[in-house]
Amino acid sequence: MIDLRSDTVTRPTPAMRAVMAAAEVGDDVYADDPTVRALEERTAELLGYEAAVYMPSGTMTNQVALRAHTECGDAILCHSHAHIAVLERGAPAALSGLSIIPLAGAGGVFSAAALEAAIPSAHPFIPAVQAPPRLVCIENTHNVGGGTVWPLATLQEVIEAARRLGLRLHLDGARLWNASVASMTSEADLAAGFDSVSVCFSKGLGAPVGSALAGSAAFIARARRFRALFGGGLRQAGLIAAGALFALDHHRERLREDHANAQRLASGLAGIDGIAINADAIVTNIVRFQVETMTAGQFVDRCHAAGVFLLPSGTNGVRALTHLDVSETDVDLAVERIGSVMSEAGRMIEAMP
Ligand SMILES: Cc1ncc(COP(=O)(O)O)c(C=O)c1O
Repeated sequence: MIDLRSDTVTRPTPAMRAVMAAAEVGDDVYADDPTVRALEERTAELLGYEAAVYMPSGTMTNQVALRAHTECGDAILCHSHAHIAVLERGAPAALSGLSIIPLAGAGGVFSAAALEAAIPSAHPFIPAVQAPPRLVCIENTHNVGGGTVWPLATLQEVIEAARRLGLRLHLDGARLWNASVASMTSEADLAAGFDSVSVCFSKGLGAPVGSALAGSAAFIARARRFRALFGGGLRQAGLIAAGALFALDHHRERLREDHANAQRLASGLAGIDGIAINADAIVTNIVRFQVETMTAGQFVDRCHAAGVFLLPSGTNGVRALTHLDVSETDVDLAVERIGSVMSEAGRMIEAMP
């Protein structure tokens, strides 16, 4: 089975497992785990922030950040397709009492003008009926947007606009590593100007568990309180943190292979009748396309039966991700199998009375 559902399906390599098995550990709730501390320090340094805190998931780092930046009843602004808005099970409302002001823009990227236009006017004739906007969230790369990398100039304009408007800024950098490799810009440069940054080790980097939230020392101390409140205190977490440290050292540069494989997959898919894809828009490891002759659900089921695991996304949309456990040969085989599924469907349509 060629599993293209997500870059989270990777398994730790033998070298990573060896490092994990040998990790020095302690009770991290008492700040006694030297491997977790090393990972937090390394992450903060890489991102250019004072401190970082390790957590079990990207959802938790995002939600702890939201909680630490806001008060119940505030509003946050993010793209209408942001992971925080649509894929975290309503957590901003459920855990922090936040409403969302959704912003539009191609590929998950919005402009400074869109941000400014979404802020309620401060004119005294207009009653303050809206929740006070507090925080802007940017996702880089953008998952639902198709692995988009924010152009640096747009990023800078949005950061400046948010500052002018007195808003705080959070970066959901679950795949910031991919953005860095694709744009040949350091993670620190992409993470500059925010109040907090969330990164994941368990996606393209191939570690089994974990994410980190970075920010100022004062902000991270506050975030630790909410990590505990949300049940995210871990004990001998050095075992898994060691996998993340290994991934930082060994799996960042190789992301360019995943990007090349994603392009190879996209160009292969572009040659199959009944699949609509803009192969030029694929810049990282996320490939999104449309199926024209059946629903995404039917297509995904048939591909699964043919040995390719994909994710449906909407009525006709499909998502495929390349990762550490997918080779160039796997990509070619996947294209071949998907091609057979589509020609079989084409023959069935032609044979219909
Ligand atoms: C952009 C983005 N942010 C956050 C997350 C959440 O990460 P986790 O699955 O570790 O909770 C994901 C997961 O795919 C993601 O794509």
